[in-house]
This record gives sequence, structure tokens and C-alpha cells, in this order.
Amino acid sequence: MTLSAEDEHRLEQFWQFCRTHQYFNVGYPEAADFDYSALHRFLYFSINNCGDWAVPGNYVLNSFEFEREVMHFFAELFSIPAPHSWGYVTNGGTEGNMFGCYLARELFPEGTLYYSQETHYSVMKIIKLLRIKAKKIATQPNGELDYDQLATQILCDGERHPIIFANIGTTLKGAIDNIALIKQRLSAIGIARQDYYLHADAALSGMILPFVDNAPAFSFADDIDSISVSGHKMIGSPIPCGIVLAKRHLVDRIAVEVDYISASDQTISGSRNGFTPLVMWAAIKGRTLAQWRERTRRCLAIAQQVVERLNHQGVPAWRHPHSITVVFPRPSERTWKTHCLATSGEHSHLIILPHHHSLHQLNAVIRDIVRDLGPAAACNASQPPMLACSA
Ligand SMILES: Cc1ncc(COP(=O)(O)O)c(C=O)c1O
Repeated sequence: MTLSAEDEHRLEQFWQFCRTHQYFNVGYPEAADFDYSALHRFLYFSINNCGDWAVPGNYVLNSFEFEREVMHFFAELFSIPAPHSWGYVTNGGTEGNMFGCYLARELFPEGTLYYSQETHYSVMKIIKLLRIKAKKIATQPNGELDYDQLATQILCDGERHPIIFANIGTTLKGAIDNIALIKQRLSAIGIARQDYYLHADAALSGMILPFVDNAPAFSFADDIDSISVSGHKMIGSPIPCGIVLAKRHLVDRIAVEVDYISASDQTISGSRNGFTPLVMWAAIKGRTLAQWRERTRRCLAIAQQVVERLNHQGVPAWRHPHSITVVFPRPSERTWKTHCLATSGEHSHLIILPHHHSLHQLNAVIRDIVRDLGPAAACNASQPPMLACSA
């Protein structure tokens, strides 16, 4: 393989572009504080993790032993004994959510999936692909599910086997659906625990909550059936990936035998990335639990400083207690485009990640938000131009 000088030049330009924009993301939750250079040499090989990492197949160039360790780490983190669970390294949060919904649909083929209005858009794709009946439930202003409406809707539908898609950190507001309240409402309308499925979409917060004190319920200890977490968000990865973990007896129902590689497969893809399990492995081996805690604490502390700075300057910004997502009213298009802020409807957010080391790095974005939304902006908007703020 040889690239022409022109193509080499294009790659060089793209390299420079990546270096310039490496830390662009204040609106999207991709951590950029990683260094996986110890893994670069594995890009010389076609590592393929097709099938179950627990079953040695005939395709020997796999990273199963690393994937096993990754899944054991997450089983412990999410409070389920490893032998009672099974999961794998996915292509990202969406695939993990799809896997959870697939298990649910196999368990309750006629069940209706209930998801909140603030659920990530990918749930719509999953519903279509898996052809699951689904109902959208309203949210409270803080982004949490409306638990009463959930119960009322299930009763109205006469649904005996609801599939609950709970948000453990919504995309825009970082809201966490209260698992205890969901369970309580279902019990109150006469639906026993064995008659419903509970999936946790913990794309971002799944790697925050294990490292904070007094975390809300989100794990298998709280009786979820499956959980999906993105690898390229709070963990950090050069390639999108994630992990999904579920109760083992639910996964066993969907396994298929693959004779030509002498393996068993219960994943969504056929061939699977063998490099990203190495990335996840290096990430979990590269930090102690105390270091994960400290990394999380720092992000939460800076997020709180951003809220306070914005509030102090007249912007009604807020965040949920265990969230690194700072929510505020939508600023001007110029501001959200300049700083790549995620914006939806009336709200925008910024997300504090481990590569943000201090408030200082965020001065420019804070300045622009305050210019658009602070008291001076309100004054400009409400006064006739001739009188604007001059008094
Ligand atoms: C709450 C939530 N769920 C799922 C996803 C999808 O994750 P991924 O982009 O890793 O597929 C996202 C992505 O932003 C998300 O915020």
C-alpha cells in the first residue's frame, strides 16, 4: 500500500485539523484526556471478537481475554456477580440500548416499551428495527420521567408486560429517572417484578455514578435487567465504543451457535471490533478506583463553578446534583455555533469533562453566554434602542 504525495498531504492536513480541534467539545460528552499509545502496535492486526468472549472460537486473533476482564470490572462496578451476568464491548451506547431492548422483546414479545420524551433519539431507531410497540411518556421540567403518567399510560394500555427504558442521565439535562419510583408505581398498579423489564441507558452517567457518594439507584443492586454505557464519553476512546451488561439468564435465551467458527454468538454484530476491548481494558487498568473518583470529582466541581459563575452573572444555569451537564437557556445561534454547544428547543448545555482543568479554559464560552443571556442582554431586549442600558 502506497499513498501518493497528494494523499499524504491530505492526511497531514487532517492531522493538523484534529490537533487543532482535539479539545473542541464543550457541548458533547467525549473525554479527551486519554493516551492509548501502548495499543498503537495492535493496529497491525485484524483482531476480531466475533461471538462470545467466554467461548474459545476457531478465529484465534481475538482479544477475548481482555474483554472478559473488562466485563468482570463492569459487573463488579454495577453490582452483579460476574457469573450471573453477561455483556460485551459494543460499538457505543446505541448498540447497548438495542441489545437491552432485544433481550426485553425476546422475553416479552408483545410488551410495550415506555420511554420518556427526553430519551436519546436512538430509541426511535431501536423501536423501528426491533418492531416493538412503544409509548412516549412526558417528562417533568427537570428532565425526569413523569412517574404518574407512566403508571396511568400502562393502565390505559392494559399492558401486562411493560418494558421500561430508564434514563440514567438524559442527553440534554443529565436527568436520572428514579428507579425506586418506577418500581413503586408498577407495583402500585399490580405489575409484579417478574412481569416487566427494566433497561438503564447510562451512556454518560454510568461512568460517573459509581464514583460519587449517595448516588441515585442505577445498578443491578437496584434490580435493573440491563445497562448500556458509552466508552467514548466519560471513559474516553479514539474509537466510539461502549459496554452492555445484562442478567445472564436473559442473554442465554438469545445465543446462537456458529458452526464455521465453532463459537456461540449472542451479540448484535457478527464480526466485532477486537481493538476497542483493548482500549476499554487499558482505560480501566490505567487508573485506580481512587483516580476515577478524583477525575469525576474534579468534573463535578468545575461544573458547579460554571453554574455559580453563570448565576452570579445573571444567567439561570443549573445542573442535577451528580451531573457534569450544565443547562441554561438557549443562547444566540452565533454563540452555540461558535462553541459547538448542544442545543435543543429552549435549552442548551455544556458538559465538563476531564480534559477541562479549570474554569479559566471556559472563559470565552461563559463570556458569550453571559453576553447573550445576562442582565445586559435582557436590558437590550426589553428597552427601546435609544434608551438601551445608557442610564
Ligand atoms: C442518554 C444517551 N443515550 C444513548 C446515547 C447514544 O450513545 P452512542 O452515541 O454511544 O451510541 C447518547 C449519546 O449521546 C445519550 O446521550
